[in-house]
Amino acid sequence: MKYYWIVMWQILVLSTIVLSAQSTEGRYENVNVKQDWWETAVMYQIYPRSFMDSDGDGVGDLNGITSRLEYLKELGVDATLLSPIFKSPMHDFGYDVSDYYSIQPEYGTMEDFEQLLRKAGELNIKVILDFVPNHSSNESDWFIKSSNRDEYYSDWYIWENGHLNDRGQRSPPNNWISLFRKSAWTYMPSRDQYYFHQFGSSQPDFNFRNPVVVEEMKNIIKFWLEKGVAGMRVNSVNLFFEVDKDVYGGRYPNEPMTGKPNLGPDDYGFLEHVYTKDQEETYDMVSQFRDVFDAIAIRDNLTRIMMTEASTNIKNAVRYYGEGIHTGAHIPFNLALIADLDKDSDARDIKYAVDRWLTYKPLKKQANWVTGNHDKSRVASRFRPELVDAFNMLVLLLPGIAITYMGEEIGMVNGFVPWSETKDPQACNTDDPVNFIEVSRDPVRTPFQWSNGKNAGFSAADTTWLPVAEGFEQLNVAAQRSAVRSHYQVYRTLTNLRIRPAFRLGRFESLALNSDVYAFKRWFNDDTYIVVMNVGKVYHVVNLTAFDLIFGQLEVEASSVLSSRTYSDSVQANYLDLAADEALVLRMQV
Ligand code: GLC
Ligand code: MG
Repeated sequence: MKYYWIVMWQILVLSTIVLSAQSTEGRYENVNVKQDWWETAVMYQIYPRSFMDSDGDGVGDLNGITSRLEYLKELGVDATLLSPIFKSPMHDFGYDVSDYYSIQPEYGTMEDFEQLLRKAGELNIKVILDFVPNHSSNESDWFIKSSNRDEYYSDWYIWENGHLNDRGQRSPPNNWISLFRKSAWTYMPSRDQYYFHQFGSSQPDFNFRNPVVVEEMKNIIKFWLEKGVAGMRVNSVNLFFEVDKDVYGGRYPNEPMTGKPNLGPDDYGFLEHVYTKDQEETYDMVSQFRDVFDAIAIRDNLTRIMMTEASTNIKNAVRYYGEGIHTGAHIPFNLALIADLDKDSDARDIKYAVDRWLTYKPLKKQANWVTGNHDKSRVASRFRPELVDAFNMLVLLLPGIAITYMGEEIGMVNGFVPWSETKDPQACNTDDPVNFIEVSRDPVRTPFQWSNGKNAGFSAADTTWLPVAEGFEQLNVAAQRSAVRSHYQVYRTLTNLRIRPAFRLGRFESLALNSDVYAFKRWFNDDTYIVVMNVGKVYHVVNLTAFDLIFGQLEVEASSVLSSRTYSDSVQANYLDLAADEALVLRMQV
């Protein structure tokens, strides 16, 4: 404890010095503005189960990832974000952890992970782990002990008495519903009580009002940071706390109904989650976690970043940047490009979604952009394949941090996973062989498409844990690598471009030139760029002189795969004809 306070004191004293000391990394040296390693990083999220299988069991693994780190380098990635690799019975594929201090055997050993870290270090790729502190697996020792009322672990989870009616029928403590549908309470005979779970019944929620639990969570963070990871993505932060039942006479109150149509009492959206989401205590907890990252960063003189994931409204989302005495996350996930946009969105909606985040975010903090993850439909499927390059331009050229979900760089599409092969607990919980598809996350988790070989080059096994998506024979890394024009080539061009000061440090301005054409300007000193995209289905002529100080000729730096333009073509600022789906990065000629 004493040591802790000394470290905290050092943070106060040293933070300014460290910020300037750390930021003189090679490629930034030409411009006289200091930036820390993460501030404009390109991050690449890997879903380990589906990236690369090294041992032929049909399941991706750590050695598989290590063997493909050069691919990440080639893409221009600065950091990789690994979905959970910890020991887990895999009911929610690693988001149900049974031992936070060890590696899931299917994925490899601790030595394999250390090897991965070494290799990544050699390539100067940072490794960030996904951390799930909201709940453990129901197969963890901690939960088993808790359910047996072990003295030390008894209060580690949320336990509550149910109701018993005259006929001896048991019912849960209240009406709370799980995100995966149905009651959020499951009865445990050994304790004759119910436990609370925000997600599946195999994912009991920790009791964050127990300081011993909080201490353990901090130990877990410390353990992995000391092993050499550069940061952690802290999962579901806004679900850490439920209302304090003591305020309600010792019983958890029912949540009110939303009154939304077409929803039944098993559906999460049936209730307004006023007592189980976004509780005030969350922000202090995030700040306490952040202190652990900072303490180690100070000691090692290398920033360790905390990312937070919360599915919530924008005002709550940006609170995770920190406020007042509370420090927050370095990177609170910005889900705007996922949550605010869909198939029907046009240029005005894109402008609105982008500006909204930039408006609510504290002025001095870094933005971040993400269009997909292991939970959300892929860009090619959510919008259309022709817009893949446009969305990669958004992610990579808007100000701040870029986060790419594996496969988006080649425009992978959602796979088709039939009911009989469905694995995602969220889909299985629907008990509905037809409509499961609406919530299934399996389609975005199908194996990565490396080549046109067996299982798309992902695995030598006869069957893979999820089927490979159709069309991999054409859509794969090898094909796009050897093609002159491909999403992969565009992606590489973009990561190269974003190293320039205009994209790293430059200012930003945007316009919806009409309902189909979105454009933004980035500039630093006299180096100026326009990124313009026609997200509509018809041809348009636009006038870029609508932007201040844009005139004359601009030169093409990058163009979407189907564009008729290529590198160094000239276009006229006051008359630019854009085909449907065409997206361009243009540089002002001076
Ligand atoms: C996060 C993950 C999701 C998982 C859930 C429960 O939201 O992104 O995949 O199911 O946490 O742990
Ligand atoms: Mg394997």
